[in-house]
Amino acid sequence: MDAARLAPGASLLAIARVADAVANADLAIALPSEEAARIARHVKADDRAARTAAWSLARTLLGAALGLAPTAVPVVRGTNGRPGLDRAGLGVASDLDFNLTHSGSWVAVGLARGGTIGVDVEKARGLDLWTRLAPDFMHEDDRARWSALPEPGRAASALRQWCGKEAVLKATGEGLAGDARGVRLPEGGGLVVRAGRAFLTGSGALPAAAYAFAVEVDAPTLFLSAGAGWERLAG
Ligand SMILES: CC(C)(COP(=O)(O)OP(=O)(O)OC[C@H]1O[C@@H](n2cnc3c(N)ncnc32)[C@H](O)[C@@H]1OP(=O)(O)O)[C@@H](O)C(=O)NCCC(=O)NCCS
Repeated sequence: MDAARLAPGASLLAIARVADAVANADLAIALPSEEAARIARHVKADDRAARTAAWSLARTLLGAALGLAPTAVPVVRGTNGRPGLDRAGLGVASDLDFNLTHSGSWVAVGLARGGTIGVDVEKARGLDLWTRLAPDFMHEDDRARWSALPEPGRAASALRQWCGKEAVLKATGEGLAGDARGVRLPEGGGLVVRAGRAFLTGSGALPAAAYAFAVEVDAPTLFLSAGAGWERLAG
């Protein structure tokens, strides 16, 4: 968990299967009561489990980075519902930002110092759905290129684009309010400029899912939780 003590300008991305996060003793924390109550209002048990795993992972990493107990990390909701650190409640100056995501059996959390970060995981979906959604989130030039791809790779490409765009919109905090068609992703990752701010973007495949990040600072360090421990993948 020492890895969460980020240097200025550094960032990290932690990705975990929900089942691994649940089994990881480091993440067995009590969530603050209002957070637990908000999660408890979700009807589906899978949604509750994924959100609990994501917030436990976020609070554990934030607590390690800030030198606080995970439960004591003060979180507020900003514009468009974006969660962030409650700087007034923190008591010390911090340039730390975070973001989290949950989809299917995966969760991810990003931390960054000195800039904002957005992260997304999405479970794989069929080509029919992507074909319906494409006009809503792809720029027409990108959609023309995408439609010309060989069919076997088209669903995976759409999934990566969706994830990448959502990571950018979560880094800026626009979320659902942002027009995803205006987010143009470089092939294979790279810089995206949005509202005059430059974000390093990247994405990758997971079993039956994909992940993406967009961060205003240097390249993230990627960690994957592995059962009871942590495996460092890169960085
Ligand atoms: C929150 C949002 C940004 C993403 O939702 P999602 O993909 O369903 O869910 P994710 O798991 O990736 O992210 C949800 C988490 O993002 C965080 N979040 C909420 N609003 C956010 C915002 N404006 N900016 C950044 N993060 C936000 C929250 O922590 C939330 O989890 P919580 O409710 O358990 O606290 C939302 O705007 C949304 O529903 N988007 C719909 C998807 C879409 O149309 N995307 C455009 C196509 S690329």
